[in-house]
Amino acid sequence: MNFDRLAAHYHWLETICAGGLMQRCRTTFLPRTQNSRRALLVGEGTGRFLVELLRCNPEIQITCVEHCEGMIKQARERLTSEGQDGSRVQFKHMDALDWMPPSEKYDLVVTNFFLDCFRPEQLQKLVPRLAESTTTEAIWLLADFRVPERGWKRWRANMILAMLYAFFKLAASLSVSRLTPPDTYLVNAGFNLMDRRFASLGFAHSDFWKRTAT
Ligand SMILES: C[S@@+](CC[C@H](N)C(=O)[O-])C[C@H]1O[C@@H](n2cnc3c(N)ncnc32)[C@H](O)[C@@H]1O
Repeated sequence: MNFDRLAAHYHWLETICAGGLMQRCRTTFLPRTQNSRRALLVGEGTGRFLVELLRCNPEIQITCVEHCEGMIKQARERLTSEGQDGSRVQFKHMDALDWMPPSEKYDLVVTNFFLDCFRPEQLQKLVPRLAESTTTEAIWLLADFRVPERGWKRWRANMILAMLYAFFKLAASLSVSRLTPPDTYLVNAGFNLMDRRFASLGFAHSDFWKRTAT
């Protein structure tokens, strides 16, 4: 998987194909991050969520784990153009699948349109790994695509997803060809779904998960 060729085009492609849908999904639960102090953003891409998080939370320190150098460059440029304090953000250019959680603990994890890039056996490894790096009452925000249960909305979602995965296979050598809902992995890693909002006729969702204190 390599998003380098896409990085410079990701923003305008998103705007043309999805309008404001993805950004609305990314920021649905942003107001609930106001007490967060240490955030882990994984596969953040061009930094559209990142700048909004910095803007709404003046205290927060952020680690971004991102595999694609081009995406990190886009995110850094966005920080500058939006007048945000880049010293509060630490970029780690690496594969999240190889990332070993540091001893510091995060009270916020964000994976927007990221977990859909992985196969079930990868999620089984990745989600608990990220969960290990969290505090006992951490929150986890995610936005992603989904397939509604039945009817024409299901058919529509499957058709759009087939096109999306075919595009990312060509443009980013994505080896995944179908969506795996991450819910089971999050529950097994000790997180509870507290709130979920749907968008685009059930084709996208924004989630607010919270770790259960043990
Ligand atoms: C579909 S894009 C989503 C970007 C952004 N989060 C958004 O909301 O649009 C997936 C992002 O995850 C990054 N990525 C994919 N696999 C990764 C991995 N194994 N480790 C870290 N980042 C990865 C890609 O470089 C890309 O920036």
